[in-house]
Amino acid sequence: MDYKALMEKACEARKMSYSPYSRFCVGAALLCKNGKVYTGCNVENAAYSATNCAERTAIFKAVSEGEREFEAIAIIGGKAGEDGGFCAPCGVCRQVIAEFCDKDFKIVLGTADSVNVYTLGELLPLSFTKDSL
Ligand code: THU
Repeated sequence: MDYKALMEKACEARKMSYSPYSRFCVGAALLCKNGKVYTGCNVENAAYSATNCAERTAIFKAVSEGEREFEAIAIIGGKAGEDGGFCAPCGVCRQVIAEFCDKDFKIVLGTADSVNVYTLGELLPLSFTKDSL
């Protein structure tokens, strides 16, 4: 699967965003090494800290289905009612990605028309992982 196709799945997932508080809608699509794709959206809560980001929704869905090997994640975000665009993953999501993925894991940002590809190593240098323990 190419990264633009993965981003299109992130765009679709973004439509499911439950974000009545921030009105900021995020979608993510996680590509497993076996070719399967798990999608997720942000799910907010009246107790704000209980909110789950789109990336973690996708990762937790995948891990809870037995997946452990991941190749790439596409992420798109933006205000409700507007087209999505560049949305860098938050620090917590970067840390959760680092739990399961190597430094060469690809993080795909941008829009369905134009994507930029980063690595986890670029976005989370000097990380604390299981190798640190
Ligand atoms: N959000 C994500 O889903 N992913 C990120 O990486 C950044 C932030 C969500 C959380 C919250 O629902 C909204 O965007 C505003 O922070």
